Amino acid sequence: MTVNIDWNNLGFEYMNLPYRYISYWKDGQWDDGKLTDNNMLTINESSPILHYGQGAFEGLKAYRTKSGKVQLFRVDRNAKRMQNSADKLLMPQVPVDKFIDAAKQVAKANEEYVPPYGTGATLYLRPILIGIGENIGVSPAKEYLFTIFAMPVGSYFKGGMVPTKFLVADNFDRAAHFGTGGAKVGGNYAASLQAGKYAHEHGYGDAIYLDPIHHEYLEEVGSANFFGITKDGKRLLTPKSPSILPSVTKYSILDLAKTRFGLETEETQISIHDLDQFSEAGACGTAAVITPIKSITYGDDEYTFGDGEIGPMTQKIYDELTGIQFGDVKAPEGWIFPI
Ligand code: PLP
Ligand code: COI
Repeated sequence: MTVNIDWNNLGFEYMNLPYRYISYWKDGQWDDGKLTDNNMLTINESSPILHYGQGAFEGLKAYRTKSGKVQLFRVDRNAKRMQNSADKLLMPQVPVDKFIDAAKQVAKANEEYVPPYGTGATLYLRPILIGIGENIGVSPAKEYLFTIFAMPVGSYFKGGMVPTKFLVADNFDRAAHFGTGGAKVGGNYAASLQAGKYAHEHGYGDAIYLDPIHHEYLEEVGSANFFGITKDGKRLLTPKSPSILPSVTKYSILDLAKTRFGLETEETQISIHDLDQFSEAGACGTAAVITPIKSITYGDDEYTFGDGEIGPMTQKIYDELTGIQFGDVKAPEGWIFPI
């Protein structure tokens, strides 16, 4: 390593790394794309991303293994999810191969910024796809930009694998059922800022949302999906809703819980009044990894999961998932992409 970074104390902050990938779409096609050292984007002032939010993003990580190699985790899933987000906002899809190749190029070009094995830190990749060019009416852009930049990161929630309290955002909706909640688009996050700020100011890790129709069923955290493990230790449940983001981490956890730990898994409605069926719960996502949920506060009630510490099954699933990501545990076929 030649760069001077305190790998063990990284949070989740932007860093201007040497290289990012950039590609433009014009007249119906993508250009070849290239790496650049310029971290500034120059776009027309009437670009639809700036006014009407026509843009999508992704988040994935590159991991350093014990032998020093670098690998991406399920980058094909991020590529496909960005295609779904593109469809939702009438943007051209980035081909899956182009997305994967770009992610590999960025990880490789910035390889000295992939944190050392054993620090728990990773290189976070942030792909974005935005509508640019002259366009002042409310209509899809005629030109698009796809870029991937990167930065080394530690934990997203304070302390990482530490039981964290969440607050039900009962007076807020993040997304609507027929809206954009299932797509990874900026507006969902703009809509979560108020509730997130309120939750942080009151000592919670983040806000957790209820369904926008009944305000009864759990949706997700502003930056991660929810899962709970029932008191008998046999079932892992996670909310089913069209307005939550289909988390790559969540589907990986569902798979591992079932195939490696023999749990029954189900995507189903989870009422805020039925939290007492769970003895463990977690918030899961690329940035969040698995953050154990200590308690959920809903109005005057606070429900604590188990004894408020990291549950045994949550720990097992965390170890299995991160073991796979860092190359210590055998991965299911197709989950790992060496750079
Ligand atoms: N839910 C939201 C709102 C998110 O922003 C994220 C992060 O990407 C997730 C869930 C977790 O998704 P993934 O596991 O694909 O990172
Ligand atoms: C991710 O986990 O990759 C995300 O995009 C969450 C983000 C809000 C930091």
